[in-house]
Amino acid sequence: MSHTLPPWPARSAFPPGFLFGAATSAFQIEGGVATEGRGASWWDRYTHLPGRIRDGRHADTACDHHRLWREDLDLMQRLGLQAYRFSIAWPRVLPMGRGAANEAGLAFYDRLVDGLLARGIVPYATLYHWDLPLALADAGGWQSRDTAAALADYAALVVQRLGDRVQHWATLNEPRCCAWVGHFEGRHAPGLQGDLRATLAAVHHQLLGHGLAVQAMRAARPTAQLGLVLDLKPHLPASGHADDVAAARRGDGVFNRCLLDPVFHASYPADVVQACAAEMPEIRSGDMATIATPIDELGINYYTRAVVAHDASRPWPSLREERVPGVHHSTMGWEDWPEGLEQTLLRVQREYAPKAVYIAENGAAEPDEVSTDGLVHDPARQHYLRGHVQACARALAQGVPLQAYLAWSLMDNFEWGRGYTQRFGLVHVDFETQQRRVKNSGADYAAFIASPRA
Ligand code: FCB
Repeated sequence: MSHTLPPWPARSAFPPGFLFGAATSAFQIEGGVATEGRGASWWDRYTHLPGRIRDGRHADTACDHHRLWREDLDLMQRLGLQAYRFSIAWPRVLPMGRGAANEAGLAFYDRLVDGLLARGIVPYATLYHWDLPLALADAGGWQSRDTAAALADYAALVVQRLGDRVQHWATLNEPRCCAWVGHFEGRHAPGLQGDLRATLAAVHHQLLGHGLAVQAMRAARPTAQLGLVLDLKPHLPASGHADDVAAARRGDGVFNRCLLDPVFHASYPADVVQACAAEMPEIRSGDMATIATPIDELGINYYTRAVVAHDASRPWPSLREERVPGVHHSTMGWEDWPEGLEQTLLRVQREYAPKAVYIAENGAAEPDEVSTDGLVHDPARQHYLRGHVQACARALAQGVPLQAYLAWSLMDNFEWGRGYTQRFGLVHVDFETQQRRVKNSGADYAAFIASPRA
């Protein structure tokens, strides 16, 4: 498929102070899993179970970023990144999930944050990007209400340590994905399949942990910008048939409203609650108000849309996603559909009105290879990024309080259940040598960031 590139939007479409950057997460890049007192997470265990990871590989080394972090920060600086979203590995800081802190783990993030600031890069820190300490996993994981309290204690510890230098904090990354893919689809840790009760408990306890964490962090650092990161995906019916329309609505309920409604409206969507009445977790009085503790900013991960058909052969929500013919799909099988980003931003503003939003992840996996000229030609990613940055410009022009755009990802990394088969980076990584090489899309993005605002 040929990729006629759309132009970048005018640099002046983004106000001064708007930040362009990139994102990663600890488990996907750090490696160093047994270094300096780090404890294990449920992802460490999961990646070593036979048959769980598509290419049979693990993340013990990944991008070796725990060792190469200085070089990686230099690379970000060379790309002119203005912001960097990273996550803190909970088991590196609290090896048992709670209790005694690991000073060497905290010191690693101290150095990372100082290194970012020294290079003029604004840090966006995420506390939980799926690497739950094994000790907490074995005590029930997100099915246990106690894990919510543990998240809040961990959040308070980290914000006390780094909050003098880090302004932007997300409690959770994609609680929907952790709950559904980990407890229903069986493709992420902890690897449960079809367990709706566990899935909904994981949703509720993560959100409860988020609310408790925001309260604890607010008390420790009243001026910090606090929030969480949700993966949002428009669900469109595959046809005008009433069954498909209803399936799309169910999909939207599970994927989008089930997280947005509690955080912004202090309630779960009535249609989801009704459909899942028998499987709903215990919701104690005060829980919903805690979950809806006001936040300062919402991070949105947007990748693609879902085109949804009713499928009675599948468990509730009884739907399947259809592949749209004749358009480009990434190696994840995801469509390049920037209109969905604009629509998502407008919808969130209309229905939930967060004070500020930022794109916490957006990007595409492509079959990138180093070609004989030594370059990585990745026009499909250039196409994707330009189109989605255009969508951000349109949303801004319509009044969305968008403050930053963080591409996923800075560099190729360990893509969870798909191992190293998916390359999302602006920077190519050779996992044998750990050599980094800026892809054409990375250079293109860097040139856009550096272009004059005039
Ligand atoms: C998101 C995750 C991120 C990465 C991208 C491709 O769901 O937050 O870690 O795996 O997808």
